[in-house]
Amino acid sequence: MRLIIREDPKAVAYYTANYVRQRINEFKATRSRPFVLGLPTGSTPVEVYWHLVDFYKRGELSFRNVVTFSMDEYVGLPRTHPESYCSFMRRHLYDHINLRSENIHMLDGNAEDLAAECQRYEDKIKEVGGIELFLGGIGPDGHIAFNEPGSSLESVTRVKTLAYETVLANARFFGGDVNKVPKLALTVGVGTVRAAREVLLIITGAHKAVALAKCIEEGVNHMWTLSVVQLHPSAMVVCDEDATLELHVKTVRYFKSIEQVQEQLIGRQNIGLKGSISKLSHADAQGLYTSAPQPPSEPDSNASAEPDLSEEMGQSDVDEEEYVAYSDAGKSFKATLMPVDDSAGSSGELHDGASPSATRAAVAAVGGPFQIPPSPQNSTIC
Ligand code: GLP
Repeated sequence: MRLIIREDPKAVAYYTANYVRQRINEFKATRSRPFVLGLPTGSTPVEVYWHLVDFYKRGELSFRNVVTFSMDEYVGLPRTHPESYCSFMRRHLYDHINLRSENIHMLDGNAEDLAAECQRYEDKIKEVGGIELFLGGIGPDGHIAFNEPGSSLESVTRVKTLAYETVLANARFFGGDVNKVPKLALTVGVGTVRAAREVLLIITGAHKAVALAKCIEEGVNHMWTLSVVQLHPSAMVVCDEDATLELHVKTVRYFKSIEQVQEQLIGRQNIGLKGSISKLSHADAQGLYTSAPQPPSEPDSNASAEPDLSEEMGQSDVDEEEYVAYSDAGKSFKATLMPVDDSAGSSGELHDGASPSATRAAVAAVGGPFQIPPSPQNSTIC
Protein backbone atom coordinates (compact mmCIF):
# COMPACT_ATOMS: atom_id res chain seq x y z
CA MET A 1 0.00 0.00 0.00
CA ARG A 2 1.20 3.49 -0.70
CA LEU A 3 0.72 6.39 1.71
CA ILE A 4 1.27 9.76 0.11
CA ILE A 5 1.52 12.65 2.56
CA ARG A 6 0.97 16.19 1.42
CA GLU A 7 1.05 19.47 3.31
CA ASP A 8 -2.65 20.34 3.39
CA PRO A 9 -6.05 19.51 1.86
CA LYS A 10 -5.34 21.68 -1.20
CA ALA A 11 -2.21 19.75 -2.04
CA VAL A 12 -4.04 16.46 -1.43
CA ALA A 13 -6.80 17.52 -3.82
CA TYR A 14 -4.37 18.50 -6.55
CA TYR A 15 -2.27 15.36 -6.18
CA THR A 16 -5.40 13.21 -6.37
CA ALA A 17 -6.97 15.00 -9.32
CA ASN A 18 -3.70 14.93 -11.20
CA TYR A 19 -3.38 11.21 -10.51
CA VAL A 20 -6.91 10.54 -11.78
CA ARG A 21 -6.18 12.61 -14.89
CA GLN A 22 -3.02 10.64 -15.60
CA ARG A 23 -4.71 7.29 -14.99
CA ILE A 24 -7.57 8.12 -17.36
CA ASN A 25 -5.26 9.50 -20.04
CA GLU A 26 -2.87 6.57 -19.77
CA PHE A 27 -5.73 4.07 -20.02
CA LYS A 28 -6.70 5.31 -23.50
CA ALA A 29 -10.33 4.40 -23.05
CA THR A 30 -12.63 3.72 -25.98
CA ARG A 31 -16.36 3.40 -26.12
CA SER A 32 -16.12 -0.39 -26.00
CA ARG A 33 -13.38 -0.30 -23.35
CA PRO A 34 -14.32 2.57 -21.05
CA PHE A 35 -12.48 3.74 -17.95
CA VAL A 36 -14.76 2.83 -15.04
CA LEU A 37 -14.44 5.23 -12.13
CA GLY A 38 -16.01 4.91 -8.67
CA LEU A 39 -16.65 8.27 -7.01
CA PRO A 40 -17.35 9.51 -3.49
CA THR A 41 -19.31 12.38 -1.99
CA GLY A 42 -18.38 14.43 1.07
CA SER A 43 -16.50 17.69 1.43
CA THR A 44 -13.05 16.13 0.96
CA PRO A 45 -13.38 15.30 -2.76
CA VAL A 46 -15.03 18.62 -3.73
CA GLU A 47 -11.75 20.29 -4.62
CA VAL A 48 -10.65 17.18 -6.49
CA TYR A 49 -13.74 17.60 -8.65
CA TRP A 50 -12.99 21.28 -9.24
CA HIS A 51 -9.58 20.30 -10.60
CA LEU A 52 -11.07 17.59 -12.80
CA VAL A 53 -13.55 20.11 -14.22
CA ASP A 54 -10.67 22.52 -14.77
CA PHE A 55 -8.60 19.87 -16.57
CA TYR A 56 -11.60 19.12 -18.77
CA LYS A 57 -12.15 22.81 -19.58
CA ARG A 58 -8.50 23.19 -20.50
CA GLY A 59 -8.75 20.24 -22.86
CA GLU A 60 -6.39 18.11 -20.77
CA LEU A 61 -8.92 15.45 -19.86
CA SER A 62 -11.99 13.99 -21.53
CA PHE A 63 -14.73 11.97 -19.88
CA ARG A 64 -16.16 10.83 -23.22
CA ASN A 65 -15.27 7.21 -22.57
CA VAL A 66 -15.48 7.27 -18.79
CA VAL A 67 -18.22 5.43 -16.91
CA THR A 68 -18.92 6.49 -13.33
CA PHE A 69 -20.47 4.83 -10.31
CA SER A 70 -21.27 6.93 -7.25
CA MET A 71 -20.61 5.19 -3.97
CA ASP A 72 -23.78 5.83 -2.06
CA GLU A 73 -27.10 7.64 -1.69
CA TYR A 74 -29.47 8.49 1.13
CA VAL A 75 -32.70 6.53 1.32
CA GLY A 76 -35.89 8.54 1.00
CA LEU A 77 -34.35 11.90 0.15
CA PRO A 78 -35.78 13.23 -3.14
CA ARG A 79 -33.19 13.13 -5.93
CA THR A 80 -33.63 16.86 -6.43
CA HIS A 81 -32.96 17.66 -2.75
CA PRO A 82 -29.76 19.77 -2.66
CA GLU A 83 -28.17 17.31 -0.23
CA SER A 84 -28.99 14.14 -2.17
CA TYR A 85 -25.80 12.59 -3.47
CA CYS A 86 -27.30 12.78 -6.93
CA SER A 87 -27.53 16.60 -6.63
CA PHE A 88 -24.07 16.70 -5.08
CA MET A 89 -22.42 14.81 -7.94
CA ARG A 90 -24.21 16.90 -10.56
CA ARG A 91 -23.36 20.17 -8.82
CA HIS A 92 -19.68 19.45 -8.36
CA LEU A 93 -18.84 17.31 -11.37
CA TYR A 94 -21.37 15.76 -13.72
CA ASP A 95 -22.96 19.01 -14.95
CA HIS A 96 -19.60 20.46 -15.93
CA ILE A 97 -17.90 17.72 -17.94
CA ASN A 98 -18.52 15.68 -21.08
CA LEU A 99 -19.73 12.47 -19.44
CA ARG A 100 -22.38 10.74 -21.53
CA SER A 101 -25.58 10.59 -19.47
CA GLU A 102 -25.88 6.83 -20.09
CA ASN A 103 -22.44 6.41 -18.49
CA ILE A 104 -23.45 7.99 -15.18
CA HIS A 105 -24.59 5.49 -12.56
CA MET A 106 -26.12 6.41 -9.25
CA LEU A 107 -28.06 4.49 -6.67
CA ASP A 108 -31.75 5.31 -6.41
CA GLY A 109 -32.59 5.79 -2.75
CA ASN A 110 -36.27 6.09 -3.64
CA ALA A 111 -36.56 2.80 -5.51
CA GLU A 112 -39.59 0.77 -4.57
CA ASP A 113 -37.51 -2.33 -4.02
CA LEU A 114 -34.25 -1.22 -2.42
CA ALA A 115 -32.72 -4.71 -2.39
CA ALA A 116 -33.41 -5.07 -6.11
CA GLU A 117 -31.90 -1.63 -6.72
CA CYS A 118 -28.71 -2.73 -4.97
CA GLN A 119 -28.54 -5.93 -7.00
CA ARG A 120 -29.07 -3.92 -10.20
CA TYR A 121 -26.06 -1.78 -9.26
CA GLU A 122 -23.78 -4.75 -8.63
CA ASP A 123 -24.90 -6.30 -11.94
CA LYS A 124 -24.23 -3.08 -13.79
CA ILE A 125 -20.70 -2.82 -12.39
CA LYS A 126 -20.00 -6.38 -13.57
CA GLU A 127 -21.56 -5.69 -16.95
CA VAL A 128 -19.10 -2.86 -17.68
CA GLY A 129 -16.13 -4.99 -16.66
CA GLY A 130 -15.63 -3.92 -13.04
CA ILE A 131 -14.32 -0.70 -11.57
CA GLU A 132 -10.88 0.38 -12.68
CA LEU A 133 -10.28 3.00 -10.00
CA PHE A 134 -12.36 3.54 -6.88
CA LEU A 135 -11.83 6.95 -5.38
CA GLY A 136 -13.06 7.12 -1.80
CA GLY A 137 -13.25 9.35 1.21
CA ILE A 138 -13.74 8.18 4.78
CA GLY A 139 -15.81 9.22 7.76
CA PRO A 140 -14.14 9.98 11.12
CA ASP A 141 -15.21 6.47 12.25
CA GLY A 142 -13.26 5.01 9.34
CA HIS A 143 -16.21 4.15 7.11
CA ILE A 144 -15.74 3.95 3.36
CA ALA A 145 -18.85 4.91 1.40
CA PHE A 146 -21.46 4.19 4.09
CA ASN A 147 -19.84 0.98 5.33
CA GLU A 148 -20.11 1.73 9.00
CA PRO A 149 -18.08 -0.07 11.68
CA GLY A 150 -18.98 -3.73 11.80
CA SER A 151 -19.76 -3.99 8.08
CA SER A 152 -18.70 -7.27 6.58
CA LEU A 153 -15.49 -6.95 4.66
CA GLU A 154 -17.18 -9.07 1.98
CA SER A 155 -20.30 -6.90 1.83
CA VAL A 156 -21.76 -5.77 -1.49
CA THR A 157 -24.17 -2.98 -2.37
CA ARG A 158 -26.99 -2.90 0.17
CA VAL A 159 -29.16 -0.83 2.51
CA LYS A 160 -27.25 0.39 5.54
CA THR A 161 -28.33 1.99 8.81
CA LEU A 162 -26.11 4.97 9.55
CA ALA A 163 -24.13 5.15 12.78
CA TYR A 164 -25.08 7.98 15.12
CA GLU A 165 -21.60 9.47 14.68
CA THR A 166 -22.18 9.66 10.93
CA VAL A 167 -25.62 11.19 11.36
CA LEU A 168 -24.03 13.81 13.63
CA ALA A 169 -21.13 14.41 11.22
CA ASN A 170 -23.50 14.87 8.27
CA ALA A 171 -25.93 17.13 10.15
CA ARG A 172 -23.81 20.07 9.00
CA PHE A 173 -25.27 19.58 5.52
CA PHE A 174 -28.82 19.73 6.94
CA GLY A 175 -28.65 22.99 8.85
CA GLY A 176 -27.11 21.22 11.87
CA ASP A 177 -30.38 19.37 12.53
CA VAL A 178 -29.81 15.63 13.13
CA ASN A 179 -33.54 15.01 12.66
CA LYS A 180 -33.28 16.06 9.04
CA VAL A 181 -30.43 13.66 8.25
CA PRO A 182 -31.67 10.43 6.65
CA LYS A 183 -30.85 7.44 8.85
CA LEU A 184 -30.65 4.90 6.04
CA ALA A 185 -28.53 4.85 2.92
CA LEU A 186 -27.73 2.65 -0.04
CA THR A 187 -24.04 1.98 -0.30
CA VAL A 188 -21.60 -0.06 -2.30
CA GLY A 189 -20.10 -2.72 -0.02
CA VAL A 190 -16.60 -3.12 1.32
CA GLY A 191 -16.35 -6.09 -1.04
CA THR A 192 -17.45 -3.90 -3.94
CA VAL A 193 -14.62 -1.47 -3.21
CA ARG A 194 -12.14 -4.32 -2.81
CA ALA A 195 -13.17 -5.74 -6.17
CA ALA A 196 -12.03 -2.55 -7.91
CA ARG A 197 -8.69 -2.92 -9.64
CA GLU A 198 -7.35 0.08 -7.77
CA VAL A 199 -8.46 1.96 -4.66
CA LEU A 200 -7.46 5.51 -3.77
CA LEU A 201 -8.60 6.97 -0.46
CA ILE A 202 -8.29 10.65 0.40
CA ILE A 203 -8.08 11.52 4.08
CA THR A 204 -7.63 15.01 5.47
CA GLY A 205 -7.94 16.66 8.85
CA ALA A 206 -7.02 15.90 12.45
CA HIS A 207 -10.52 14.51 13.08
CA LYS A 208 -9.64 11.58 10.81
CA ALA A 209 -6.20 10.95 12.32
CA VAL A 210 -7.32 8.05 14.52
CA ALA A 211 -8.98 6.35 11.55
CA LEU A 212 -5.82 6.74 9.47
CA ALA A 213 -3.69 5.29 12.25
CA LYS A 214 -6.04 2.30 12.55
CA CYS A 215 -5.82 1.84 8.80
CA ILE A 216 -2.03 2.03 8.55
CA GLU A 217 -0.66 0.72 11.83
CA GLU A 218 -3.19 -1.83 13.01
CA GLY A 219 -4.69 -4.96 11.51
CA VAL A 220 -7.56 -5.39 9.08
CA ASN A 221 -10.66 -4.92 11.17
CA HIS A 222 -14.34 -4.60 10.34
CA MET A 223 -14.66 -1.89 13.01
CA TRP A 224 -12.48 0.31 10.81
CA THR A 225 -13.68 -0.63 7.37
CA LEU A 226 -11.10 1.52 5.60
CA SER A 227 -8.42 -0.88 6.91
CA VAL A 228 -9.47 -3.30 4.19
CA VAL A 229 -7.13 -1.45 1.83
CA GLN A 230 -4.35 -3.50 3.48
CA LEU A 231 -5.68 -6.50 1.58
CA HIS A 232 -5.81 -4.71 -1.73
CA PRO A 233 -2.96 -5.28 -4.18
CA SER A 234 -3.21 -1.77 -5.56
CA ALA A 235 -4.26 0.69 -2.90
CA MET A 236 -3.11 4.20 -2.18
CA VAL A 237 -4.02 6.60 0.60
CA VAL A 238 -3.39 10.29 0.04
CA CYS A 239 -3.54 12.31 3.25
CA ASP A 240 -2.51 15.65 4.66
CA GLU A 241 -0.14 16.32 7.56
CA ASP A 242 -3.01 16.84 10.02
CA ALA A 243 -4.37 13.38 9.30
CA THR A 244 -1.02 11.85 10.31
CA LEU A 245 -1.19 13.20 13.86
CA GLU A 246 -1.93 9.80 15.43
CA LEU A 247 0.68 7.91 13.40
CA HIS A 248 4.07 7.12 14.86
CA VAL A 249 6.76 9.53 13.69
CA LYS A 250 8.60 6.43 12.47
CA THR A 251 5.65 5.46 10.25
CA VAL A 252 5.38 8.92 8.74
CA ARG A 253 9.14 9.01 8.06
CA TYR A 254 9.02 5.55 6.53
CA PHE A 255 6.36 6.44 3.97
CA LYS A 256 7.99 9.78 3.20
CA SER A 257 11.31 8.05 2.70
CA ILE A 258 9.80 5.61 0.22
CA GLU A 259 8.55 8.52 -1.85
CA GLN A 260 11.89 10.27 -1.49
CA VAL A 261 13.86 7.24 -2.66
CA GLN A 262 11.53 6.84 -5.63
CA GLU A 263 11.69 10.50 -6.59
CA GLN A 264 15.34 11.28 -5.93
CA LEU A 265 17.24 8.04 -6.29
CA ILE A 266 15.25 5.77 -8.59
CA GLY A 267 13.72 8.56 -10.63
CA ARG A 268 10.11 9.19 -11.50
CA GLN A 269 10.78 8.22 -15.13
CA ASN A 270 11.43 4.63 -14.00
CA ILE A 271 8.26 4.22 -11.99
CA GLY A 272 4.85 3.43 -13.40
CA LEU A 273 1.89 5.52 -12.30
CA LYS A 274 0.70 2.81 -9.93
CA GLY A 275 4.16 2.45 -8.38
CA SER A 276 5.45 -0.45 -10.45
CA ILE A 277 9.08 -0.57 -11.53
CA SER A 278 9.63 -2.65 -14.63
CA LYS A 279 13.18 -1.70 -15.54
CA LEU A 280 15.70 1.03 -14.95
CA SER A 281 17.32 2.87 -17.82
CA HIS A 282 21.05 2.16 -18.03
CA ALA A 283 21.99 5.66 -16.88
CA ASP A 284 19.60 5.59 -13.95
CA ALA A 285 20.77 2.15 -12.89
CA GLN A 286 24.35 3.43 -12.88
CA GLY A 287 23.29 6.44 -10.87
CA LEU A 288 21.76 4.13 -8.31
CA TYR A 289 24.94 2.14 -7.89
CA THR A 290 27.14 5.20 -7.59
CA SER A 291 24.75 6.59 -4.96
CA ALA A 292 25.30 3.61 -2.73
CA PRO A 293 27.58 4.18 0.24
CA GLN A 294 31.13 2.97 -0.44
CA PRO A 295 33.20 1.20 2.24
CA PRO A 296 36.20 3.27 3.40
CA SER A 297 39.40 2.20 1.65
CA GLU A 298 41.51 2.33 4.80
CA PRO A 299 39.46 1.61 7.87
CA ASP A 300 40.40 3.92 10.71
CA SER A 301 39.59 2.41 14.08
CA ASN A 302 39.58 5.86 15.73
CA ALA A 303 37.11 7.32 13.28
CA SER A 304 33.61 8.24 14.38
CA ALA A 305 30.77 6.00 13.22
CA GLU A 306 28.98 9.04 11.83
CA PRO A 307 30.14 10.62 8.57
CA ASP A 308 31.82 13.99 9.01
CA LEU A 309 29.46 16.34 7.27
CA SER A 310 31.07 19.54 8.43
CA GLU A 311 32.41 20.41 4.99
CA GLU A 312 29.12 19.83 3.20
CA MET A 313 27.50 22.07 5.75
CA GLY A 314 30.07 24.80 5.21
CA GLN A 315 31.48 24.39 8.72
CA SER A 316 35.19 23.90 8.72
CA ASP A 317 35.93 24.66 12.33
CA VAL A 318 34.00 22.13 14.29
CA ASP A 319 35.16 21.56 17.82
CA GLU A 320 32.77 21.04 20.71
CA GLU A 321 29.83 21.50 18.38
CA GLU A 322 29.37 19.37 15.32
CA TYR A 323 26.84 19.64 12.56
CA VAL A 324 24.77 16.91 11.05
CA ALA A 325 22.29 16.94 8.24
CA TYR A 326 19.25 14.80 8.19
CA SER A 327 16.55 14.79 5.65
CA ASP A 328 12.82 14.68 5.65
CA ALA A 329 10.89 14.20 2.42
CA GLY A 330 13.41 15.81 0.18
CA LYS A 331 14.28 18.64 2.51
CA SER A 332 17.29 18.52 4.70
CA PHE A 333 17.85 20.30 7.92
CA LYS A 334 20.86 21.48 9.82
CA ALA A 335 21.17 20.47 13.44
CA THR A 336 23.77 21.25 16.05
CA LEU A 337 25.38 18.61 18.20
CA MET A 338 25.58 19.98 21.71
CA PRO A 339 28.08 18.83 24.28
CA VAL A 340 26.19 17.53 27.28
CA ASP A 341 26.86 16.16 30.67
CA ASP A 342 26.88 12.35 30.59
CA SER A 343 25.38 12.14 34.03
CA ALA A 344 22.23 13.81 32.80
CA GLY A 345 21.12 10.65 31.02
CA SER A 346 20.57 10.38 27.31
CA SER A 347 17.16 9.62 25.99
CA GLY A 348 15.58 10.83 22.81
CA GLU A 349 18.66 11.94 20.93
CA LEU A 350 19.09 11.50 17.23
CA HIS A 351 22.75 10.54 17.33
CA ASP A 352 25.07 9.24 19.97
CA GLY A 353 28.82 9.18 20.22
CA ALA A 354 29.43 11.40 17.19
CA SER A 355 31.91 13.62 18.96
CA PRO A 356 34.60 12.78 21.49
CA SER A 357 33.96 12.10 25.16
CA ALA A 358 30.62 12.96 26.63
CA THR A 359 28.97 14.50 23.64
CA ARG A 360 25.55 13.42 22.59
CA ALA A 361 23.55 14.79 19.76
CA ALA A 362 20.67 16.98 20.53
CA VAL A 363 18.87 18.84 17.84
CA ALA A 364 19.48 22.25 19.27
CA ALA A 365 19.24 24.39 16.22
CA VAL A 366 17.43 23.76 13.02
CA GLY A 367 18.47 25.87 10.06
CA GLY A 368 16.76 25.13 6.82
CA PRO A 369 15.00 23.64 5.07
CA PHE A 370 17.21 23.58 2.03
CA GLN A 371 17.28 21.18 -0.91
CA ILE A 372 19.87 18.44 -1.15
CA PRO A 373 21.55 18.71 -4.56
CA PRO A 374 20.84 15.38 -6.33
CA SER A 375 24.48 14.33 -6.42
CA PRO A 376 25.52 10.79 -5.48
CA GLN A 377 27.69 12.21 -2.72
CA ASN A 378 24.83 13.87 -0.98
CA SER A 379 22.49 10.97 -1.64
CA THR A 380 24.51 8.93 0.77
CA ILE A 381 23.74 11.41 3.53
CA CYS A 382 20.08 10.55 3.64
C1 GLP B 1 -20.20 10.55 3.87
C2 GLP B 1 -20.08 9.67 2.65
C3 GLP B 1 -18.72 9.06 2.55
C4 GLP B 1 -17.67 10.13 2.69
C5 GLP B 1 -17.83 10.80 4.01
C6 GLP B 1 -16.75 11.82 4.29
O1 GLP B 1 -20.35 9.81 5.02
N1 GLP B 1 -21.04 8.63 2.63
O2 GLP B 1 -18.59 8.41 1.30
O3 GLP B 1 -16.41 9.55 2.58
O4 GLP B 1 -19.08 11.42 4.01
O5 GLP B 1 -17.19 13.12 4.27
P1 GLP B 1 -16.25 14.37 4.39
O6 GLP B 1 -15.33 14.30 3.23
O7 GLP B 1 -17.19 15.53 4.31
O8 GLP B 1 -15.55 14.27 5.66
